[in-house]
Amino acid sequence: MQEQQFIPSKSYQLPEKGEVKWESPSNIALVKYWGKYGEQLPKNSSISFTLSNCKTTTHLSYQKKNSSKKFSFEVYLDGNRTKSFEPKIEKFFERIEKYLPFLKDYHFKIETQNSFPHSSGIASSASGMSALALCLLALERQANSAMTDDFFNQKASFLARLGSGSAARSIKGNLVVWGEHTAVNESSNLYGVEFSDKVHEVFKNYQDTILLVDRGEKQVSSTVGHNLMHNHPFAEQRFLQANNNLEKILPVLQFGNLDEFIFIVEQEALSLHAMMMSSSPYFILMKPNTLEIINKIWEYRKTHKSKISFTLDAGANVHVLYPENEKAKVLDFIKNQLVGYCQKGMYICDEVGFGAKPL
Ligand code: DP6
Repeated sequence: MQEQQFIPSKSYQLPEKGEVKWESPSNIALVKYWGKYGEQLPKNSSISFTLSNCKTTTHLSYQKKNSSKKFSFEVYLDGNRTKSFEPKIEKFFERIEKYLPFLKDYHFKIETQNSFPHSSGIASSASGMSALALCLLALERQANSAMTDDFFNQKASFLARLGSGSAARSIKGNLVVWGEHTAVNESSNLYGVEFSDKVHEVFKNYQDTILLVDRGEKQVSSTVGHNLMHNHPFAEQRFLQANNNLEKILPVLQFGNLDEFIFIVEQEALSLHAMMMSSSPYFILMKPNTLEIINKIWEYRKTHKSKISFTLDAGANVHVLYPENEKAKVLDFIKNQLVGYCQKGMYICDEVGFGAKPL
């Protein structure tokens, strides 16, 4: 599928006014996207678990306006006008206008809420951008009832990607691949695709408890972070490693080899951080407590013959991953031994989910 196919081929009779509401989840990458080119295209393929409890709900109200010269919208987070979000959304609208040519015909009210605390350090761009993309596309769909579900999901992912790369993986499915890879049928740099081979039972309700080590503002924005991969001395090796890990993790997800899963996922997390530690300028995004937690997880895994593991995003928080049948024991371990390393003792219990839904 080429970009042109997402440009509507005819003009539709769009509604005068109306509203739509969607909720869209966050996701956690197992093989990480880190490095992009062109207009939001990934330098390597990535795969993520869709989450269930960490999500954004967006209510979009729209009303036709007289002049179609510029974009017109207001953004509310938890009921409060949030002007600081506007530049990012303006940029998003500029990028997607070609594919949703009616954007300048409307005034939009965007009311958004996250299920997780705003200052938790959990990236809201994947859930936030995918929820907004879904609402805007739902408006197009009202005028184009011939649009199939498959096309809707593909275009929603395509649009979400233009807002934030990882958002392409938040539309549908419990495991989503984004980025062209010979091992994944139909995979594309333009949108995410559901990993459709049979997924082993153990991964259908895999647990992710997010330990909030540092709830502060991100030290390095993802755009700055991705840019650090340009001219990075280890960039090409890293893209190769990620693509190899993607190929290796596919049979693991099918057949449930948890030792191999743990190895790949932890290697990915540490490689991502190694990239940041070795870029110019360099950053350490882990905190001392991140390392304390990692060591405790390794110790627990060994002494309890557990399948617990961790992954990290571009920050200090730790995602603790484990099979559902260990839930009671791992939650005890978290409460007894890890909570002390979390800011204000905060953590969020989540698990694999299925994707976005209209409300
Ligand atoms: C470390 O999707 O936030 O979470 O495309 O610039 O919005 P932009 O980047 P973003 O990058 C996320 C990177 C990551 C790894 C991942 O989710 O794959």
